[in-house]
Amino acid sequence: MKTSDTPRTYKVKSFGCQMNVYDGERMGELLEAKGIKPAAEGEDADLVVLNTCHIREKATEKVYSDIGRIVKAGNKAGRDPMIAVAGCVAQAEGEEIMKRAPAVGIVVGPQAYHRLGDMVTKAVAGERGTDTDMPEDAKFAALPRRRKVAPSAFLTVQEGCDKFCTYCVVPYTRGAEISRPYTDLVEEAKRLVDAGAREITLLGQNVNAWRGEDTAGHSVGLEGLVKELANLPDLERIRYTTSHPNDMTDELIAAHGEIDKLMPYLHLPVQSGSDRVLKAMNRSHTAQSYLRLLDRFREVRPDIALSGDFIVGFPGETEAEFAETLHIVDAVRYAAAFSFKYSPRPGTPAANMDDQIAPEVMDERLQRLQTALGRHQHAFNQASLGKTCDVLIERKGRKPGQWLGKSPWLQSVFFDSELKIGDMVRAELVQAGPSSLQGRVLDSVPA
Ligand code: 5AD
Ligand code: SF4
Repeated sequence: MKTSDTPRTYKVKSFGCQMNVYDGERMGELLEAKGIKPAAEGEDADLVVLNTCHIREKATEKVYSDIGRIVKAGNKAGRDPMIAVAGCVAQAEGEEIMKRAPAVGIVVGPQAYHRLGDMVTKAVAGERGTDTDMPEDAKFAALPRRRKVAPSAFLTVQEGCDKFCTYCVVPYTRGAEISRPYTDLVEEAKRLVDAGAREITLLGQNVNAWRGEDTAGHSVGLEGLVKELANLPDLERIRYTTSHPNDMTDELIAAHGEIDKLMPYLHLPVQSGSDRVLKAMNRSHTAQSYLRLLDRFREVRPDIALSGDFIVGFPGETEAEFAETLHIVDAVRYAAAFSFKYSPRPGTPAANMDDQIAPEVMDERLQRLQTALGRHQHAFNQASLGKTCDVLIERKGRKPGQWLGKSPWLQSVFFDSELKIGDMVRAELVQAGPSSLQGRVLDSVPA
């Protein structure tokens, strides 16, 4: 690859989790600080960053086909875009990508992307570079300040994972658990609010394992950070994701009953309802201990909406064990959920386990699970009918004149009235569908 001109425009394509969305935004800010502008909608960018996900399926193959497509489009237009591969596939594949895809100029891992600007400079000079270090240095401190943000913004507070669930690549691609310092986070949250955020979602692979030291020097958990952020007058909503059942503390549970700005929603993955499977997954909780934990949330916040992640077809999963997953779904009555077919990840213990489940069995189980989850989501939406709540408007809907926002329970709510992004409207929920609701504006608080 030889690109003699500094790119004028960039595009970051983020796949996978919300942390990738956050990282993608930060990479964009970093490129803008270098004078590279975001490409307009539909315009081919001079620099394309593929911010990849490695958690499931044929992630690597997808990256190569995306690269192929970018090169082809470039050839057709007589241009030669610079391609950077970032995210977890970059971390896992590193040099392999450089070998297989000569069009790629930059490979940068999730812990090293603060160096992307320098890598672009080098790539302009024809020097390809791979950086998949996991340095102890402060990536976040090296990033430029946040400027304009959406009304619902992400803030990464914790990264990495020490849990080593036997199916999961995250401990390898994102590294060991680290918590960002309290004061840095409060500062970043203030800047997000100044830049227009009315809701902040605190992100971490195990966000509830976050610990820090408050300004008085006391060691605090996530509830301490949430309490401090709740003092920001213009911040109206706080959420956090993703949590692990074993890191849940009494203090964080109690916070759900004490802090109004902490939204009544909890994403707490269970993965399976079978204790045998949970043990083989190294989850170190049981179906019962998980249910008891949720009971405690419901005690302090009876209207809390619960969400989870599920894997079907983990190696050795029997029909009876899968039925236990369906049982836990009925016991919890999830408001929302994410469910996946087990996907062997190279280098993880489960990938070498006997008894891998046939794809057609997985398909069939996933379908049954999703039917059950859909039924509960619809029932949850129906139970919301007639309620009055605040909805934060996030974007236009697909139909002309339609607007879309989120309820406190993270439901999508559509409106037909004229609104704008960032409005917090008082609304009545007047119609419920399987995955969204229709709202009627009662009055609107100016943004
Ligand atoms: N196969 C299928 N699903 C997986 N997840 C993580 N690793 C795998 C895998 N190898 C799911 C888990 C996790 C979510 C982010 O992705 O449910 O909670
Ligand atoms: Fe992966 Fe388990 Fe860590 Fe979640 S807790 S990131 S599933 S290893």
